[in-house]
Amino acid sequence: MIDKKVYIETYGCQMNVADSEVVVSILKDHGYKHTGNIGEAELILINTCSIRDNAEQRIWGRLKAISHLKKKKPGIIIGLIGCMAERLKESVMEKEDIVSLLAGPDAYRDLPSLIAEAESGNKAVNVLLSREETYADISPVRMDSKGVTSFVSIMRGCNNMCAYCVVPYVRGAERSREPGSIISEIKNLRDKGYREVTLLGQNVNSYLYSEEGHSVSFPGLLEKAALVDPLIRIRYSTSHPKDLSDELLHVMAQYPNICRHIHLPAQSGSSRVLKLMNREYSREWYMKRISAIRSIIPDCAISTDIIAGFCTETEEDHNETLSLMEWAGYDFAYMFKYSERPGTKAARKLKDDVPDDVKTRRLNEIIALQNKLSARSKKQDVGRVFEVLIEDRSKRSESRLSGRTSQNKVAVFPAEGRKKGEYVNVKIEGCTPATLLGKII
Ligand code: 5AD
Ligand code: SF4
Repeated sequence: MIDKKVYIETYGCQMNVADSEVVVSILKDHGYKHTGNIGEAELILINTCSIRDNAEQRIWGRLKAISHLKKKKPGIIIGLIGCMAERLKESVMEKEDIVSLLAGPDAYRDLPSLIAEAESGNKAVNVLLSREETYADISPVRMDSKGVTSFVSIMRGCNNMCAYCVVPYVRGAERSREPGSIISEIKNLRDKGYREVTLLGQNVNSYLYSEEGHSVSFPGLLEKAALVDPLIRIRYSTSHPKDLSDELLHVMAQYPNICRHIHLPAQSGSSRVLKLMNREYSREWYMKRISAIRSIIPDCAISTDIIAGFCTETEEDHNETLSLMEWAGYDFAYMFKYSERPGTKAARKLKDDVPDDVKTRRLNEIIALQNKLSARSKKQDVGRVFEVLIEDRSKRSESRLSGRTSQNKVAVFPAEGRKKGEYVNVKIEGCTPATLLGKII
């Protein structure tokens, strides 16, 4: 069999990055080689995101931009996979006829036969969601060149019904991956020289795998992961505040190789809005969770996601978001304007009634505040010493290295003969808005 080449482009979250590695692994077993050069590919796959309308608009733009490739090489197959394929199904092909293959997030094992179908000139579609698929037995092909940090998917889908969110519709019901396969994947990465693994799921705190009367929950899995090797750092993402238990915080506190960082999306600081969002916690509950983190893991960084301008949000609600952010003193945040997604509970039941200019202004206020908080968080590190895992050369200078602290902050420092994959103690001497600057001690 002559090797054909597949080019894959990934949009959206880390789950999609991990999925693209699964896809490349499945295709490799069917004679496809991965290429980073779109011009030489016979198969082009776009792994897509539907989380906000602008994510989808970017992908439509990208499809337009690559349409000339199809004219140049009529035999190539362009496929749309992932969340947008799942959400829009065949209507993708009606809108953009260069697409001849669609596969939803649970249909990747079917790709070889979908490709064969598309090669014979038909439109190939599989957007079935599954209750079981976790791709547990597939070893992902790592495409990153750094080879220091990596993602391991531990569950798929989501059972929370946040009113704004399309994820349960495009990724299906929650299912947890068998723990043995997760641990052996981590060991395998360790043997290849990786030094950091991020366990991924939409809501890792609800991870639960039961077998023969014995079950493993997230704190148990995290502990097993931490025990693989003290030199392997473990991170995880994302936590839903309603399920963040003290038990989990105690496991984190016990193992120094579990990174001191929790991504705990608040979405809003107003209990009224949180209720409409169906987040199942109040402002007070969320604040108690932050206090628990601060008391059990004092050196833990906390980051968040915030949505500006959700349905019915008033100036008072918005001010509550700002005051929560200030109180929590987030180290980092992802901030978004609310984007109505068709089919979600908010789209069906609530009016998207905050005018766009108001959403923009509120988002700008949120970003300005977070810039201040992020700067403060970095300034507080000046003068302290952190263990940094070296990930790469600094983007700006060949003679400097870059890596992250356990708290997930990027640090840059003179190389002094050290290499990526090594741990070094770095004394922080200054900072820029995005980076800590220091020297190895
Ligand atoms: N509009 C804006 N932001 C959204 N998010 C999820 N759905 C929407 C939406 N419809 C944000 C949430 C979530 C992050 C991944 O994306 O903050 O935590
Ligand atoms: Fe990831 Fe959600 Fe985007 Fe899908 S829709 S790629 S799950 S962020």
